[in-house]
Amino acid sequence: MSSVVRFSRLLAPAMVRHRLMSNFRPEKALSLSSVSDDHSVWYDYSLNNSEQFWGDLAAERLRWRRPFDRVTDCDMERGIFRWFDGGQLNVCENVVDRHVTTDPDKVALIWEKDEPGEEERVTYKELKSMVCRLANVLKSQGVKKGDRVAIYMPVSPLAVCSMLACARIGAVHSVVFAGFSAEALRSRIDDAQASVLITADEGVRGGKTIPLKATVDKALEGTAAVNRVLVMTRTGNVVPWNTERDIRMEDAMALVSESCEAETMDSEDNLFLLYTSGSTGRPKGIAHTQAGYLLYASLTHELVFDYKPGDIFACVADIGWITGHSYVVYGPLSNGATTVLFESIPTYPDPGRYWEMVSRLKITHFYTAPTAVRLLIKAGDEHVHKYDRSSLRLLGCVGEPLNVEAWQWYNLVVGDARCPVVDTWWQTETGGIMIAPKPAPNGVKPKPGYPMIPFLGIDPVLVNEKGEIITENDVSGLLCVRKPWPGMARTIHGDHNRFLDTYFSRFPSLYFTGDGARRDRDGYYQITGRVDDVINVKGHRLGTAEVESAIDEHPDVAESAVVSFPHDIYGEGIYAYVILKDTGDLHSQTEITDSIKNIVKHRIGSFAVPEVILLTPALPKTRSGKIMRRVLRKVAANEADDLGDVSTLADPSVVDVIKKRHIETANNY
Ligand code: WT7
Repeated sequence: MSSVVRFSRLLAPAMVRHRLMSNFRPEKALSLSSVSDDHSVWYDYSLNNSEQFWGDLAAERLRWRRPFDRVTDCDMERGIFRWFDGGQLNVCENVVDRHVTTDPDKVALIWEKDEPGEEERVTYKELKSMVCRLANVLKSQGVKKGDRVAIYMPVSPLAVCSMLACARIGAVHSVVFAGFSAEALRSRIDDAQASVLITADEGVRGGKTIPLKATVDKALEGTAAVNRVLVMTRTGNVVPWNTERDIRMEDAMALVSESCEAETMDSEDNLFLLYTSGSTGRPKGIAHTQAGYLLYASLTHELVFDYKPGDIFACVADIGWITGHSYVVYGPLSNGATTVLFESIPTYPDPGRYWEMVSRLKITHFYTAPTAVRLLIKAGDEHVHKYDRSSLRLLGCVGEPLNVEAWQWYNLVVGDARCPVVDTWWQTETGGIMIAPKPAPNGVKPKPGYPMIPFLGIDPVLVNEKGEIITENDVSGLLCVRKPWPGMARTIHGDHNRFLDTYFSRFPSLYFTGDGARRDRDGYYQITGRVDDVINVKGHRLGTAEVESAIDEHPDVAESAVVSFPHDIYGEGIYAYVILKDTGDLHSQTEITDSIKNIVKHRIGSFAVPEVILLTPALPKTRSGKIMRRVLRKVAANEADDLGDVSTLADPSVVDVIKKRHIETANNY
């Protein structure tokens, strides 16, 4: 045990700080679970000596080909963030090759296929050979450093290999969730100008096949960007094939060498793009870079989850989301962990699936979304009790607020009150976990409904509408971050001005998260939800404007307004107010609402289909023509008795019409 740790136990905090400043070895110290009992000592150190803190960690945790010259160079006003400049490394080498040297036969991936009990294991050595082969295939198709590669795949070892193969040759991956429609896929391919796309013949989820290749073909009809499609065999069923363009992945991999030199990358070269929703109809390609992202994913994975060698880490998110990037792939693999790839759904073949898997694979860490927890609460405790969960050590959650009732159930029924419940708050843009009860192994005793405390080096602040920082506790405000951190997004692909506008211009010198939060008397954070037109539905992030623009494509629709309403299981449900054109030739209401739902399904994906569609002759608008969404939200939430000030409405009688229709519609669904 290092002297730092012993000292931190014995000395008063001020002296520890002095000691840490002169003799700080974060890697050695922080990777010991017996790190200082007092989180605040480390936290203060990380904020007050941030260059040294991040610099030491980067130097010790990452394998560099050339050391960096400078820890950080940031300018919040211009949205410029550079970390570890001058340094060169390869991310794939850091997450794969390193462990092949030390522990080649350790299992890196456990693929939990849709069919329970059919798991497949991939060791670090096998992973390296698969990644290298795939990297060579990409190279043989002309993919070069900086080129974009789209990945539209089921959660599987070859999907992970696709990401890592890109990292190995310096290509930029853009994973698109395989539940997105052809049109949504096409717009992401176009925006990124991806030249190669990797997919599978079909996906399998909950026993049903999903026509991935057919969807890809449809997406590619409308874009000239992609000239090669690599197809993994998942079901082996016959799928449409274009011999000029499509290549069977396994065949191509068999023909190339199993070694591939990793490209030397600069710290700030682009690692991946990941599209996420904002408050306009157009998704944004969030760009993350190499060293800073990897360091942050790696450190948060180890400390927030108290990861130890030998643990079996299961983050059941899809790789199409940032959670999958950071805590299925990069974080766990950087730490040499065994990571579970979950292809299925929580209710297949029955709602005991997760816990049956936990007992079969001896999972130690389980990380999911609140919507899944709530769904399983409804299904009944017997599905949990049936299985041995004694391997579990920690339960994590992310994506939306974990309400107290769901927290208690997760803690008592799943964890037998034995495993800390770690509610983690973060975003696609933050790269990794920002607020969690265990920002260091000891952390604090979790408080239901609260992500609680900032991770080391993270400086959250609450501001009021005027942008003034609120310093007291027991307050609510808009959640911002004052200090840059290595894992943060660097830009929006092709639109740096949008990056600045969205995150840095509302409150100068602060990163604005788009979330509202409360800080309680003890200084613990609780997230109250988005304050912009972004909603979190079933763990998916969606812009209301995206759903509106899909609905507006319906030939009978004149205008629409989409809001969210509180939903027992999904967190938020989607509620669409729709004005039909006065065409005279109206179909039945059910026909119209069904065809509107269909359009949303085709434009975005089934997860974006509104729960409620209310046909209305008008929308509540101000005299300047702005829709008063507050009124629409209140009506959707059954809170129409308390509408607040509606005196600025051009025609207040619209509100009564909507209220009446809401009650009628509510009776019908
Ligand atoms: C938005 C980010 C980060 C991975 C999953 C979602 C909401 C996230 C929590 C939490 C309350 C949460 C926020 C945030 N959110 N975690 N623990 N408690 N809300 O990533 O799709 O980028 O969405 O999810 O509203 O802004 P994302």
